[in-house]
Amino acid sequence: MAIIIMAGGSGTRFWPLSRAARPKQFLRIVGDRPMVRATYERVKGLAPDREILVVVGKGHEAETRRIFSDTEVHVLVEPFGRNTAPCVGLAARVAESMGCGGKPLIVLPADHYIAKPEEFLCALRTAMEVVREGGIATLGILPTRPETGYGYIEQADAGPRQGVYRVKRFVEKPKPEVAVEFFQSGRHYWNAGIFVATAGTLLREFARHMPSFHRGLEVLPASPGSQEFASALERLYQETENISFDCAVMEKTSEPVYVVPCDCGWSDVGSWYSLYEVRKEEEGDPRENVAEGDVYQDACEGSLILAGGKRFVAVLGLSRILVVDTDDALLVADMEYSQEVKKVSEYLAQGG
Ligand code: GDD
Ligand code: MG
Repeated sequence: MAIIIMAGGSGTRFWPLSRAARPKQFLRIVGDRPMVRATYERVKGLAPDREILVVVGKGHEAETRRIFSDTEVHVLVEPFGRNTAPCVGLAARVAESMGCGGKPLIVLPADHYIAKPEEFLCALRTAMEVVREGGIATLGILPTRPETGYGYIEQADAGPRQGVYRVKRFVEKPKPEVAVEFFQSGRHYWNAGIFVATAGTLLREFARHMPSFHRGLEVLPASPGSQEFASALERLYQETENISFDCAVMEKTSEPVYVVPCDCGWSDVGSWYSLYEVRKEEEGDPRENVAEGDVYQDACEGSLILAGGKRFVAVLGLSRILVVDTDDALLVADMEYSQEVKKVSEYLAQGG
């Protein structure tokens, strides 16, 4: 049993809180821990720390080591991000060298929220059982809206045990009309980007679908902590395509693929609006406001007001508004525009 926590993504949707130096997985936006630490806490009962790998980019190594300093988890450093396929391949190779090759390996994004952790763990245990004999299992989240920002999984026939189905196909981020069709079909689930397979199965898939990357993995030096390993990995990553695990492997594999439907209150907390939804449920305010920090509000409704800067923040008589104050930047937006926040990061990245 090994667990891979992928924490190398870069975020632009939580401006002004997230900057290049602080993507979502390192923010304390739900609960009092960075999301990557909350992810670890949720699953740590499934494997000993020494079989948990947190995969991050070089720029976040020090912070990640600090976050996990009281644990024995491995922090595995990528020279730069190449999306999730190389991350999974690398972690599978390291897990195999740690003697976990034949055991089920769980691949998890570091920046998701799960309202019902027990249901989540139960689905993961089912997935682990299913893949012992081969194949790749994925969790399928019951969709609650025709979201276009997620991948979808279409179920086929019943799988090898109750509560598990074979997968017909994956469709990444569909157009709005297709998302509506999927939402209404009753046969489609959201892809949460969570996969379970043995390291052996995964490495065989990389040999088949990313052969030159796989050859590079095979000749990496033995110790992931060494300078030699870091240099060889940098050379390998320079030549490796930037591609997601979904596109590189899941959409092409000829292994049996299973989906374990799971109603665990999942959210990928992909925007200020989805953070607001999660926190609104947790806080239960009758006027559906979420306020944090030094805030005074009156006659507001359905608003998220975060005062994290040096100032006191007052908001009066506004509905469905988003206010995020930090030391050096202030966001004020209609809640409907929460997906557009990334444009501010883009504008600033181009020099303002
Ligand atoms: N180590 C590492 N290196 N981690 C990475 C890298 C990388 O280069 N790129 C992304 N990650 C991490 C992110 O931090 C995140 O935890 C996870 O991998 C998924 O990456 P995203 O960039 O957030 O993917 P996405 O949101 O576009 O799409 C995926 O997730 C959706 C659900 O949240 C897909 O799997 C979709 O199908 C899915 O619906
Ligand atoms: Mg994501």
